[in-house]
Order: sequence, then C-alpha cells, then structure tokens
Amino acid sequence: MAMEEIRRGEMLYEGKAKQLYTCNLPDCYVMFYKDDATAFDGKKKAKISGKGALNNAISAIFFEMLQQAGVPTHHVRKLSENESLVRKVDLFPLEVIVRNLVAGSMAKRLGLQEGTPLRHPTVEFDYKSDPLGDPLVTEEQVAVLGWATEEEVDEMRRLALRVNDVLSADLLRRNVLLVDFKLEFGKDTDGQIVVADEISPDTCRFWDVQTHAKLDKDRFRRDMGGVEEAYQEMLHRLGGVLA
Ligand code: TMP
Ligand code: ASP
Repeated sequence: MAMEEIRRGEMLYEGKAKQLYTCNLPDCYVMFYKDDATAFDGKKKAKISGKGALNNAISAIFFEMLQQAGVPTHHVRKLSENESLVRKVDLFPLEVIVRNLVAGSMAKRLGLQEGTPLRHPTVEFDYKSDPLGDPLVTEEQVAVLGWATEEEVDEMRRLALRVNDVLSADLLRRNVLLVDFKLEFGKDTDGQIVVADEISPDTCRFWDVQTHAKLDKDRFRRDMGGVEEAYQEMLHRLGGVLA
C-alpha cells in the first residue's frame, strides 16, 4: 500500500483497551491503543501510563512476524505511537485461546498447578460476551449457533496452531515462554480468514524461561506491580523501541 497520508475519521467503536476509527482509505480502519487496563470482564479497571504505545509497538512486531511466516492478518502498518492501520474485517464473536502450559482459568477450573505441561498445544473457543464472562463453547456449539461454519472453525484452529508455532519459536530465542494467548479472527472483504485484534502482553501470558517471572497482564490481574516495566521488558526483548 502506498504511504499516503492517513486521516482519521469518526470513531466506530470503543472497546476496553482500544478505539476503532474510519479513515480516508475505504478498506481500512485506524486502531488506537488506549492506556486503560481492565480485567475480569471489565470489573477491574486502571490506567497504566504508556501501555497503549507499548501494546501497539509489540502487536505490530508480532503481526509483521506472522505475515513474514505467511499467516494472514489484518495489520497493515503502525502509524504513530498509539495507532495502527488495519484492514476492515468482520470479526467472529469468538476468542480463540491456545495453551502450551496450564495457567489462568484452566488451572483454576481443573484444580491444576500453573506451569503443568500439556502433551501438545490445545485450542479452545470462548464466546465473546462480557456480561456472560466469555464462556467456553464447544466447536459443535459454535457451528450450530451459526457463529462460524465447521470449515471456518477448522481454519481458525489451523491458523491458531500455526501462530503458536511461529511466535513460540521466536520468543524462545528471546528467553520467553509463550504460556498461552488469545486470538480473534475476522473475515476480510475477500472472505479470507485473518488474525485480527491485537497480540500483546494484554492477550498473552509470557514467562521468563529460567525464572518464570511474569511479563504480561497477570501482573495487573493479580496486583503484582511492575506492569509497565514488564511490558517494556517484552518490547525490549523483541528488539523494538517506542516510535
Ligand atoms: P485464561 O487462562 O484466563 O482463560 O486466559 C487465557 C489467555 O487468554 C491468556 O493469555 C489471557 C488471554 N485472555 C484475553 O486476552 N482476554 C480475556 O478476556 C481472557 C479471559 C483471557
Ligand atoms: N480483557 C478482559 C477484561 O477486561 C479480561 C482479561 O484480560 O483478564 O475483562
């Protein structure tokens, strides 16, 4: 895409951590990353200075890594400290979670210790709904409720595992374990399924390989402190800088 000047238009949508704007390119939106942090479906809220810029920078690095590996994404390019240009997509109402180790809700629900290994990565689908607390749904329920066809579910699962392979291998070289993460998928104007939303410490669990120190939003969810520092450390390990 030519590097023409992008002018932001009206705000179409405001989520917990981002805003979405129209722009002068008809097939694109501008995504603005806010400093707001929420957890537990928005019940816990705070502002973390610099988080928006850090997540925008980290997400851009991950999306570019995926595109180089042939995984289609909605990302076009980073525009400014807090903004990225993305392609318009129709989002599936789903959160697609990939897990390499037991942590978070899986540890809690099944009474398992965090860090317990899994025999192979798992993919789960959650129905995206804050009032319901993003409940886990079966692939069959996704299909019978019409949220995605069986073929689309298969494609999301295949892409999610590919994303896991690409990101896990890169992060390991940077001394980071990719414990689990959440993806959102959308369909672009050509009907292709692409990775959308963001990939950042808000949506992934990152542990230092040796110490298992948490470098992600669990520091906020669990009141551990050092949230901004952890996000900065992730950007640093990824070789990125704030523009
Ligand atoms: P969980 O263990 O709480 O189910 O979370 C799994 C992964 O998904 C973890 O990396 C955090 C991420 N996640 C989100 O990005 N958004 C959410 O709303 C939730 C619940 C989890
Ligand atoms: N992002 C979700 C929320 O704001 C949950 C989480 O990441 O813990 O509630």
